[in-house]
Amino acid sequence: MRRKETHFLAVHFFSYVDGSLRCEGVELNKIADEFGTPAYVYSAGTIRENYRRLDQALAPLDHLVCYAVKANSNIAVLNLLAKIGSGFDIVSGGELFRVLKAGGRADRCTFAGVGKTREEIAYALREGVYSFNVESEGELERINDVAGELGLKAPVAIRVNPDVDAKTHKFISTGKSKNKFGIGIDRALEVYKVAAALPHLKIRGVQTHIGSQILESGPFAEAASKLASLVTELKACYDIEFFDFGGGIGIVYDEALSSGSPDWWSHGDQARRMTPEDYAAAIIPALKPLGLRILFEPGRFLVGNAGALLSTVQYVKQTPAKTFTIVDAAMNDLIRPALYEGWHEIVPLQQTKEQSITMDVVGPVCESGDFFAQDRGIPPLAPGERVAILSSGAYGFVMSSNYNSRPLLPEILVDGDKVHLARSRQTMDDLIRGELLP
Ligand code: LLP
Repeated sequence: MRRKETHFLAVHFFSYVDGSLRCEGVELNKIADEFGTPAYVYSAGTIRENYRRLDQALAPLDHLVCYAVKANSNIAVLNLLAKIGSGFDIVSGGELFRVLKAGGRADRCTFAGVGKTREEIAYALREGVYSFNVESEGELERINDVAGELGLKAPVAIRVNPDVDAKTHKFISTGKSKNKFGIGIDRALEVYKVAAALPHLKIRGVQTHIGSQILESGPFAEAASKLASLVTELKACYDIEFFDFGGGIGIVYDEALSSGSPDWWSHGDQARRMTPEDYAAAIIPALKPLGLRILFEPGRFLVGNAGALLSTVQYVKQTPAKTFTIVDAAMNDLIRPALYEGWHEIVPLQQTKEQSITMDVVGPVCESGDFFAQDRGIPPLAPGERVAILSSGAYGFVMSSNYNSRPLLPEILVDGDKVHLARSRQTMDDLIRGELLP
């Protein structure tokens, strides 16, 4: 297993050995032979290493990393993270169920989201979640109500929106006042008063989250200092135990394996890189003096670079305008390019020295948005050749669907030279399970 350098943003354990792409100690061609394509492959070592590195960078703080389950919720991944001490950031009853099935602890879970139902609140209360991250006054009242019915006290933190521009894609920016998330910082004190007056709530913390795929430390530093003064004020009035700083640390999606660079992270525009150490250095000065437990909710940082989507070329279609390489994965399997113009590096499983040509890599779904690359230089690919669509461990499988009646993909977890089928490929019968003829 060749390990990538650790002084850049995040690590990954994908590399060519004797011309063949490996994940840790396993040839991806072998995985494709055994499980077919398309298929998701995750590297356990990458997840562990990124967790360790972030945890270490945050060591000066009394902290708890609560992995954002939404990024990749396979129970094998959750189990791996629970074993190394991670807590969890959940956004639904379903995610809590997964965490518990995976061996995670409810008392290390924070429950976020703007639309919690009564049933979800009751479930989380009965299981004993650490905190509800509350997004509105209506939700405070609802949680109070449900807790009262159950004869319990609900631990709450209010999500405060600091009005900071995270400079990220508009669909994943959450910290601006025009977003639907949280309570505006100017109204926070007032809403804490409302919470304090509700008999079945226990104020436990303060939460914020400014967005996702953030590659600069500036917005984090700004949010930390804006919130630190508010938290200090709140501490004087209430029994505040923690400040939850949210997630959002970005990862590198750049081209590197395909450029022949031995190190993914040293390739491309260095100026945009933010390491976990940079992140920690930007926020610790504001957070440490609070003297509180600090929670973090990273999703993408821990799992994004740990995943690859394997796919096989079906056809190469030449039109007067373009070369289309049609693969067997599609937008229903990985929707990031279609939804956010997400850029994922695409490399052949078998390394080649051939000159790149300009092509579109597309899937079989009947939509023009079904693409993985447009007008990109990639070595020519013939039908039958396999590719890896890299950095798809976060918001990949979890956002997939059965659109076009395509079965959901298998997920495979590699750990050293061990291969674990973490989810089987759906069958045709799975596709219609639960459907009823009239
Ligand atoms: N905490 C909260 C309250 C969140 O809303 C999110 C992500 C996270 C933590 C984790 O953020 P991360 O560390 O992964 O950036 N599907 C989009 C990303 C959506 C992010 C939603 N919230 C994508 O594929 O880029």
